[in-house]
Parts: sequence; C-alpha cells; structure tokens
Amino acid sequence: MAVDIRVYQSTLALSHAVSDYFLDLADRAITTRGRFTVALSGGKTPNPIFEMLASRDYAEQINWNYVHVFWSDERCVPPDDHDSNFRVARHLLLSRVQIPIANIHRMRGEDEPEPAATAYDAVLREFFTRRLGIPRARFDLVMLGMGADGHTASLFPAMNAVRETEKWVMAQHVEKLDSWRLTLTPAAINAASNVAFVVTGAEKADILKRVLKDPPDPNNLPAQAINPVNGNVRWFLDTGAGKALKD
Ligand code: 6PG
Repeated sequence: MAVDIRVYQSTLALSHAVSDYFLDLADRAITTRGRFTVALSGGKTPNPIFEMLASRDYAEQINWNYVHVFWSDERCVPPDDHDSNFRVARHLLLSRVQIPIANIHRMRGEDEPEPAATAYDAVLREFFTRRLGIPRARFDLVMLGMGADGHTASLFPAMNAVRETEKWVMAQHVEKLDSWRLTLTPAAINAASNVAFVVTGAEKADILKRVLKDPPDPNNLPAQAINPVNGNVRWFLDTGAGKALKD
C-alpha cells in the first residue's frame, strides 16, 4: 500500500496542514459518533500545531465538549515539570480551549512508572472497552513524532515495549536518557483509525529514509512498528526531514 507522505515548505504550512487534518477528523468523528478521541504526541515538534489549534481560526470550529484528549507517551515527571508533555499541551492548547477537565486523560508521570503504566492501561480499557464497547484502543487519531534514532512515542530501539502485543501502555527505563517514560505500545497505536507522524528537521532525514525505505527492522527502527491494522498513516514532513526521500 502506498505510504501517504506530505512535504511542506515551512513550519507554518505544515502546521496548517496538520491542524486542517485534525479539524477534519474531529468534525467527522463528532458528526458520526459524537466524540473525537486523540492521543497527543510529545517533544517540541507539535508545539506550533498546538498553538495553531488553539487559535481562533481553528479552536472555534471544534466542539471541544466532544473531544477526549489522551497522550501517546509521557515523561515520568510531575505534570508541572518543564519536561512534561502534558504541561506543554495544557499551556499551548488545552488551557486555551473550552475542553471539559473530565475529557483530559493524562498519564500520571508523577507516580511510580510501572503502576502508572498499569493505571493508564486501565483508563484506556475503561474508556474504549467498558464505556464504548470497543475491544481495542480505537483512537480516532494518534499523533506521533520521531526521534533521530527512529524512536516514536517512547518506543526506543531494543526496548521490549517495541514488541508488545498485549499491553496498551508500558513503562520503559530509557538508558541513554537515564529516565523513565510511559508509552502507548504498538498494540494500542496500531488499533487507531488514523496515525499522523509529524517530523521536521534535516537531522532526521536519513533516519526517516531508513524507516520508510529499509526492510522491516522495528527493533532498531521502532517507528516501523507502527502499522495500523485497520487505519491510515499519514506523514507530515518539512523539506528538511524529507530531503533524503527525494534523492
Ligand atoms: C517525547 C516524544 C518523542 C518525540 C520525539 C521527537 O516525549 O519526546 O513523544 O517520541 O516525539 O523524540 O521529539 P522532537 O519533536 O522534540 O524532535
């Protein structure tokens, strides 16, 4: 199946493209099912997108009462810590839109990692399976970034979460960062209806080409573990991240 790759000349153009995509998916999901479930990505790449979604042009087109926000991963830090993915999303987006607090389902980075992962796994099963009657983590949209080592969410090379097929959330101690992370597993992400990778920067061009063009090797290129069973993947790139693909 052809890979859906879109390359944009500027951060502004890329941010508009991702925000338009988010808006379209939210509108369709709310219209047809009365809710839009989205897992936000971490890191710095999504920041201009969060700001754009919070702007009048976009925020007023979404009925946030029907939006449920989750996370693709989280650092094991308190929610007001500088490194918290929740803190960034709250500051740039969630504090600026009329989303009910009850619709914000954050990973508890302040708790012990393993219990926090088990707890968030239970949150997802309660939401999707018990409340909605869906036997898998059928997010309408999972947003993902990608690191220069090919990791995505907090699925890092050689970590056992990359190969997880049952659990939806795991805690991982990332040696090279000397830090604990909470992450959705491929079992959860691959149940989504739509996955959007947003990758920018020339420093990611070579690894991106390997992820997209090399033979499957998810243990070393964890972004390759993302293949939704019954869903779409779209890559949003800037020209820097996409330049090796042109060669
Ligand atoms: C995180 C992310 C991680 C991120 C990539 C890219 O919590 O850091 O989920 O997977 O998306 O590392 O990070 P940048 O967007 O900062 O380059």
